[in-house]
Amino acid sequence: MSALKLFDNKYMFTVENQATGSSFQVEKNEIILDGAMSNGIGFPYGCRNGFCGKCKATLIEGEVDYKDGVPPGLSAEEVADRMILPCKCSAQSDLSIVLTELKSVADIEVRTLPCKVDKIEHLNHDVAKVVLKIPGNEALQYLAGQYIDLIHPDFEPRAFSIANAPHNTGLIELHVRLISGGKFTNFVFNELQEKSLLKIEGPKGSFYLRETSEKPMIMVAGGTGFGPVKAMVEHAIESNAQRKIDIYWGARTEQDLYTDLPQTWAKEYDYINFIPVLSQADEQWQGRTGYVHEAVLADFETLTNYEVYACGPPEMVRSAANTFVKKGMFENNFYNDSFDFAYQAGQS
Ligand SMILES: Cc1cc2nc3c(=O)[nH]c(=O)nc-3n(C[C@H](O)[C@H](O)[C@H](O)COP(=O)(O)OP(=O)(O)OC[C@H]3O[C@@H](n4cnc5c(N)ncnc54)[C@H](O)[C@@H]3O)c2cc1C
Ligand code: FES
Repeated sequence: MSALKLFDNKYMFTVENQATGSSFQVEKNEIILDGAMSNGIGFPYGCRNGFCGKCKATLIEGEVDYKDGVPPGLSAEEVADRMILPCKCSAQSDLSIVLTELKSVADIEVRTLPCKVDKIEHLNHDVAKVVLKIPGNEALQYLAGQYIDLIHPDFEPRAFSIANAPHNTGLIELHVRLISGGKFTNFVFNELQEKSLLKIEGPKGSFYLRETSEKPMIMVAGGTGFGPVKAMVEHAIESNAQRKIDIYWGARTEQDLYTDLPQTWAKEYDYINFIPVLSQADEQWQGRTGYVHEAVLADFETLTNYEVYACGPPEMVRSAANTFVKKGMFENNFYNDSFDFAYQAGQS
């Protein structure tokens, strides 16, 4: 066993993919797919449960262990041919494998999957956290920042960003803002129950964390635009990227900042900085005021060396795009999701 023994009796092994030259470290009993994901390496997967075979790789050298025995997604012939399912096994030595990695978002299959409402939690007066569980042996592969369409037979599909990092893809967290007069969001707030069945279609969109870049990042969120920012920051923390992240979160009033999570990150990680900005602050508010994109413009002399991720109301995203370019931001370093609404009032 060639391994690096750490001070707390954990063994680390190296997994090398001969097909791409990528390599990463995993702990002895860590699932190999989890190790790849937390290192930002695009291993493909479907169910994450040993059934679908989508994560299949060939083991060239080394030993793996399946805690609950060889999973059903591998036939006896495949086992004899040294195929492995990284979603179910851990490394017992350094490994050399061959596997086709995902090169871009286009390589991820868009799927329609049933899901059950696991939890609905009201985070403030008009934002609810809706957690969906994908039943059985299925999981959704996505990149941090992407969105799904939520499908209910009585409505046209509605887009919501995934608010959790792709490490626990059996669960999908959404931050849903109630739209006054909005058909679907009123249904979510007033009628949708835990254990209800829905469908999701995704993942969708090109708003996702660019993991190969080393540029410092500015994340600008408006309202529930914080959801995908949360997914990206959680993923950056999990993959120990250590890139500087300035998070600007704009809202009308203090109660619209519906979670303390960014404050907690800023205390815990010295590469994360958090600036909340209120456009309708009361006298008690000691922090920044005005529009969130204006706070960014005031704080940075130039945006030339930054990657900017902006997400939320269309007017916020538009203002950021127009003004940041004048401050030196390169257009191809600007990634955004604008929370437009696809359906006019009167339609379902
Ligand atoms: C890519 C993408 C990702 C999104 N992610 C999220 C998310 O993570 N969280 C979230 O809360 N929302 C998100 N949205 C917006 C969300 O899809 C809409 O708010 C939702 O579809 C509204 O549905 P509804 O049936 O309640 O409103 P509808 O009945 O469709 O609309 C009623 C009326 O409300 C107004 N309206 C609708 N949506 C909005 C809006 N977003 N802003 C302002 N006015 C609106 C319009 O006047 C519309 O005619 C996202 C949108 C897109 C395109
Ligand atoms: S068998 Fe489905 S992801 Fe591994």
